[in-house]
Amino acid sequence: MIEFGCIVSAAGQGERLGSGIPKALVPIAGTPMLVHALRTVAAHPAIRSIAVVAPPGHLDQVRQMTATIDTEIPLVIVAGGAQRSDSVRAGLAALPAGSTGVLVHDAARPFAPYDVFDRVITQVSVDVPAVIPGLPVVDTIKQVDESDTVLATPARANLRAIQTPQGFTRDVLSRALAQPGADATDDAALVERLGLPVQVVAGHPNAFKITTPTDLLIAEDLVARAVDPGARTHGHRE
Ligand code: CTP
Ligand code: MG
Repeated sequence: MIEFGCIVSAAGQGERLGSGIPKALVPIAGTPMLVHALRTVAAHPAIRSIAVVAPPGHLDQVRQMTATIDTEIPLVIVAGGAQRSDSVRAGLAALPAGSTGVLVHDAARPFAPYDVFDRVITQVSVDVPAVIPGLPVVDTIKQVDESDTVLATPARANLRAIQTPQGFTRDVLSRALAQPGADATDDAALVERLGLPVQVVAGHPNAFKITTPTDLLIAEDLVARAVDPGARTHGHRE
């Protein structure tokens, strides 16, 4: 059985949300987004260590927040970098060597359900080196040039909107992040650049990313209506 470490990337500024504080620290129903995310991370038995990548200058605040989480899992807090990949690299360096499987999860997806973690972990555990949750795309996607003229319309049936947690064997993620100039909005893109296969498994609508003020309203509403939106769901498949 592979032991997993989970990197929770929480070092972004949240410019599009515009709350005036780093996004991961913004409360939803009175609890910081990061704490909501960590509660589900801490619930999976295969996850044996956690590295929270915090906004530089907010490490003490994050330490106080994480102290409220009831878990035995060792949790370290490290400062993030300018680009998301810098943050993920810092998180990976902080995970113990025994974590031969690694999940990378956005704090900005505080309600990614337990079952999504489980699907990703299950596939990495049977030796799939890179596993990412995704959902069919609902909008038609256009590829455009710099002046917004449409270049192409990829067939929607072949498109997936990708979420986190993304799962990797440690070896593959290390190699992906070690590539020169490695930066991407998702870590799997760096694995693709290595020429390795990446497998998509079913994501979940609750794993949506909080990016804009509208997303924050939806998140508040979700908490108000559900006891725990990140809890185990029953057989949801897309
Ligand atoms: N992230 C990070 N380090 C960075 C940039 C992003 O750890 N240098 C994290 C964010 O904290 C978030 C996740 O990566 O959990 C996804 O990024 P995004 O939604 O873009 O968050 P922000 O970069 O904070 O938001 P924005 O781009 O609007 O500033
Ligand atoms: Mg960003």
